Amino acid sequence: MLVNMKNMLRDAASNQQIVPGFNVFGYEDAKIVIEVAEELGAPALLMTNRDAAGFMDLKYYGALYKIMAQESTTQVCIHLDHGKSKEEVVKAIQAGYTSVMYDGSALPIEENIQHSKVIADICRACDVSLEVEVGCVSYNEPHLKVEERLTEVEDMEKMIEGVEVDGIAVAVGNVHKMQEQKAVIDFVRLKNIYDVSDVPLVIHGTTGIPDEQIIKMRQYGIGKMNVGTAVRMAFGHTLREFTIQNPNVFDRIELVQKPMEEMKKVIRDKYNLLGWS
Ligand code: 13P
Repeated sequence: MLVNMKNMLRDAASNQQIVPGFNVFGYEDAKIVIEVAEELGAPALLMTNRDAAGFMDLKYYGALYKIMAQESTTQVCIHLDHGKSKEEVVKAIQAGYTSVMYDGSALPIEENIQHSKVIADICRACDVSLEVEVGCVSYNEPHLKVEERLTEVEDMEKMIEGVEVDGIAVAVGNVHKMQEQKAVIDFVRLKNIYDVSDVPLVIHGTTGIPDEQIIKMRQYGIGKMNVGTAVRMAFGHTLREFTIQNPNVFDRIELVQKPMEEMKKVIRDKYNLLGWS
């Protein structure tokens, strides 16, 4: 069934479980996320990131994911990841997305709150859930020039007081797009943030976080952890190996079988780490 993520994140966090939000790029990975979620009795969160949104119009993703969600036996939420403007958010809602992130992380906190408020009004009117970011999670891609700003407790308090949101992404040592699990989470900061927050926290950059830290993070009121690079690597590396070993295969449906199997292993593994088994 198609849902937004309002209750999904709160229910998970109160159970010391975390919903993995997966960056998906079309039918193959969306199908697997839903399949694994159904097998585990877990909710599914399909997220469209900026790369995907630049490749294909949101209305096509929205139409596809919406039918897949409606036909699923589990809760499925369709979420816009890193929306940068009111226009993008509105476009996603019109395309059938049930949840959005407004990413004001590049702005000073007061401006971030001001913009988030406007978006929150739109979301509430449309029964769409909203995630915002406090502080700034950087990227393992220097050319993007996104500087890390660790989340400050006072800024969290200002955001919570100023805007009604369903999830707040925080920067606690997590970094987007790491290919190895080498991030070091600042658990003292995370605990201080958790202590002042009655809103589920969101962690981006899960690919780079070591397994034992992911498991520990379940105690800190986190509702969602975003996973992208790990699944993309499983797809790309497996496809490359398969084509080297099978140079005569050219059929797209045949080519994606092995990568889909490997993506499924990664997706199931992240669900297990986050408390779903
Ligand atoms: P990774 O690609 O580092 O797993 O992060 C995904 C993410 O945070 C999307 O918002």
